[in-house]
Amino acid sequence: MSSESKSKIVEDSGGLGWGSSLPVPSVQELARNSCQCVPERYIQKVEDRPLHLETNQVSNEIPVINLSKLANGDEDERRNFDCACKEWGFFQVTDHGISGKVLHTMKAVVAAFFELPLVEKKVYAMAPNDFQGYGQGYVVSDEQKLDWSDLIFLITSPHKYKNMKHWPTTLTGFREAVELYSTELQKVGDEIFANMSLLMGMERESLKDIHGVMKLGIRMNYYPSCARPDLVLGVSPHSDASSLTLLLQDDEITGLQIKHKGIWVPVKPIPNALVVNIGDVMEVLSNGVYRSVEHRAVTNQENPRISIATFFIPEDELEIGPLGSMVDEAHRPRMYKKVKYIDYLRHTLGRKMEGKSHIDILKLDNV
Ligand code: OGA
Ligand code: NI
Repeated sequence: MSSESKSKIVEDSGGLGWGSSLPVPSVQELARNSCQCVPERYIQKVEDRPLHLETNQVSNEIPVINLSKLANGDEDERRNFDCACKEWGFFQVTDHGISGKVLHTMKAVVAAFFELPLVEKKVYAMAPNDFQGYGQGYVVSDEQKLDWSDLIFLITSPHKYKNMKHWPTTLTGFREAVELYSTELQKVGDEIFANMSLLMGMERESLKDIHGVMKLGIRMNYYPSCARPDLVLGVSPHSDASSLTLLLQDDEITGLQIKHKGIWVPVKPIPNALVVNIGDVMEVLSNGVYRSVEHRAVTNQENPRISIATFFIPEDELEIGPLGSMVDEAHRPRMYKKVKYIDYLRHTLGRKMEGKSHIDILKLDNV
């Protein structure tokens, strides 16, 4: 079937045309009911388990960027930001202008959603051909190992992609909190894109313009506590297929880890900060100068953890490839092929998350 006719069918059913994930049981229910034993399908191979590779317990080197300083043109902060994008691909943002109340309310409505009885959550389940809704992500075969998490994924912007049948609108305040959070996050994302544009030798608005009509997709993750956190992964290693991802995490519980110089480094939460990471699209547009870094989440025995990842997603039809200002044939030749974003996205969503292997298909043979 041609991709046009495929998207036509999906559009008619209210889906995005990006792909789908096979239905598997709710991990939250499993954790509630299955006492001390972890089912085989969740037990990772020895080399993939959380404690296999050395983990650096000191995470305070991960850069922290003061967004207010950056927005005001502070030179030192701009240098820190450039270094964070180049060396780490990950940083935490403080002074971003979003009130603690908005963040707190967002976390509260997401927690309230996961506390609903399973039958109620299932009303918002992902359709067989779509990613929006309640379920689990990246399940593509009956053989693969499964992640120890449930999620609900919603597109919040632009309006025409919102599929309200997956929104738990009967939950008091959910819609208002998510919409307000999304609007506030858009402003933070815009400021980050504007500063990247400047660093890349373009005008403030250039990156935003290049993206076309940007979509915002929010993935709300629920990681139940686990009797054997040493055997499972909350989310398997992956890089994000977005342009940029902004993550709101629990203020107390550390679960996110990033791979830095071959070592897993935990991202210790800073209350009310946002964790930002460069996605695959920005790696390609920047010709590999900014890095889309592999990350994963681990679980613990004591407490469930909620995280809220907002993906900034370019227009489906955008041709992604290195931007002219980032290519210098003598010193930094073009490293990636040009592809249509939707084709790349469908490629990544059709496969199990596997570190950075997806972006490899975009690398030119000469690198
Ligand atoms: C994601 C992700 C990490 C976390 O949702 O893409 O990487 O800490 N989440 O939940
Ligand atoms: Ni991610």
